[in-house]
Amino acid sequence: MTTIDQVKDQLDLVEVVRGYVPALKKSGRTWKSPCPFHSERTPSFVVDPDRGTWHCFGACATGGDVIEFVRRIEHLDFREALQRCAERAGIELRPPSAREVREREAHERLLRANEAAAVYFQAAIHGPSGAAALTYAKKRGLDAATVQAWQIGYAPDEWHGLVEHLRARGFTDADLRDAGLAIDGDRGLYDRFRDRLIFPTRDGRGRLIGFGARALAADQDPKYLNTPQTPLFDKSGTLYGLDRAGEEARRADRMVVVEGYMDVIACHQAGIRNVVASMGTSITDRQMTLLQRYTHNVVLMLDADNAGSEATLRGVEVAAGAAEHGLAPTVDWRGLVSYQDVLKADIRVIALPDGEDPDSLVRSDPDRVRALLGAAKPVADHLFDAVSATTDFADPRARSRALEALAPTVAAVTDPVVRAHYVQKMARMAQVDERTVLALLNRGRARPAAVPSPRDVAQAAAHGASTTPDGETQLLQLLVLRSEARPAGRILDPDTFEDTTNRLLFEAWREFRELDEHLDELDDDVRARLDAVRGLANGIWDPDAIDAKFVEPRVSEIAERLRLRRAQARLLPAAVAVATDLAASRRSGSSDDGLVAEFDELHQRQRALSRRARGGAAVESEGAPAV
Ligand code: UTP
Ligand code: MN
Repeated sequence: MTTIDQVKDQLDLVEVVRGYVPALKKSGRTWKSPCPFHSERTPSFVVDPDRGTWHCFGACATGGDVIEFVRRIEHLDFREALQRCAERAGIELRPPSAREVREREAHERLLRANEAAAVYFQAAIHGPSGAAALTYAKKRGLDAATVQAWQIGYAPDEWHGLVEHLRARGFTDADLRDAGLAIDGDRGLYDRFRDRLIFPTRDGRGRLIGFGARALAADQDPKYLNTPQTPLFDKSGTLYGLDRAGEEARRADRMVVVEGYMDVIACHQAGIRNVVASMGTSITDRQMTLLQRYTHNVVLMLDADNAGSEATLRGVEVAAGAAEHGLAPTVDWRGLVSYQDVLKADIRVIALPDGEDPDSLVRSDPDRVRALLGAAKPVADHLFDAVSATTDFADPRARSRALEALAPTVAAVTDPVVRAHYVQKMARMAQVDERTVLALLNRGRARPAAVPSPRDVAQAAAHGASTTPDGETQLLQLLVLRSEARPAGRILDPDTFEDTTNRLLFEAWREFRELDEHLDELDDDVRARLDAVRGLANGIWDPDAIDAKFVEPRVSEIAERLRLRRAQARLLPAAVAVATDLAASRRSGSSDDGLVAEFDELHQRQRALSRRARGGAAVESEGAPAV
């Protein structure tokens, strides 16, 4: 028995869930309540104590074990959820390594330094030196309650104000430097933020990880100065406002992403509270992954000048270059479409009217913003609009360029029905027939070598060779053995892996670019699995032999296949349980419309899944790489 199994064994799932969901009621063998992960009136959330599992049969259509429940309800990653459960079960996990202990202590110190700095900045904005800053905040439309709630402050126009304040409170120069609050100069440390309006930035759990600081004068450069990369703060993995927007996003089952600090605050002040900022123009991979802990429905509200700009449309190259240069990979249009498919996310885009940003618009006309949010378009449709707007359709060359701009995004759509829809749209737009469009999409996509057909596998098995590893192992092999797999791999939902050890290995892979340098931080099970995964390549299935350009599509395809299979496997016990309840209620002479509806819904979903599984096969026969 692994430690993870022990933890699950020790915990009473019903008791844990009731701690978060008081409405959970016994109903026959199982327990039910409205789902805590989406808003609904009919109870479609079911806990099965015998199996130790829970399911939402409604909109989220997910489920899992006790660790998964804690992970979701607390917005943790798997490791953190396991830790939480282990503490509750009184089971000691692997003791932290010396490095982890040091790291944790350093984090605590930096957090305390940040909190002390925030208090200093807040005091300053309400003191004599902060009068101009407070006036500026008011001029920007922020009311007193907002200034208080967002802990907006002022960094005085001094070189050593904060440094001396924190030194007097026992913080060392190293603390100040490591927190990014002070900079090393020829004559010692000096304050990083001077004469600026301060926006404390917290992570999803409310920990104060950094600051944004806005210039008060128009000629002050840069406009915003942020905390640099520190052990706590990484701009590309942070969403400003997440600590305040997370709950609302979960309730509304939608998150709005804007570009700037002021945009977030203005939206919240206007009562639109499921809003966070990417703190720059492009959303990054890591921000996208972070969002998925709250909701799969994301609306990007972009300033007009970014939504259709040349640079944004060329996002594909931009992102590819970023990955090579070790910059934070941002998500381009094609990436967003992949997200929709991979994460079953719904990603929409709003381009604001010319000259407006969310801050200006929400202050002048909040209802207009609400209306725009309601009318947000799917990513691909937005891209079509943006391309159309800049294309001269009388010019065949311009039409050709428009097709080129759209092709990577449409090629990334895996759902065959959706893809066909956009192929038609492209053909109509460019005034060519659909075959021309398909040829363009399939360009460069030949059948990859070294991928076994079912017949190869059967033949090899008949000759006594070991067979192809299961899908989860194949996926892990690609991730571990092929560096090209990282962009597609890092956006995968850990849920893709049903096996707990596989999932831990995946999360370790995602966290550590050089896994081998962190072997001492892996559980024994996980390390053993890593060794096994590396040793499993054989003649039939050889991840090393896959052509570089097919590695990413293979990762996405295997993941999609695993998810479909899991979704189907989850539905089956649900259907049986509902059918049993239905039979019982018929026997007792009562007719339960709710149960009938539930049964119908399950049936519909099962059929939809089967259709998608078949649709996937149709895509393969079009010449896309087979799984
Ligand atoms: P914008 O330039 O759109 O500014 O940058 P804004 O948010 O509308 O700012 P206001 O309304 O003029 O005060 C959008 C976001 O990009 C980041 C900040 O997070 C900003 O909110 N940014 C911008 C920087 O980090 N540094 C900069 O110099 C500029
Ligand atoms: Mn603005």
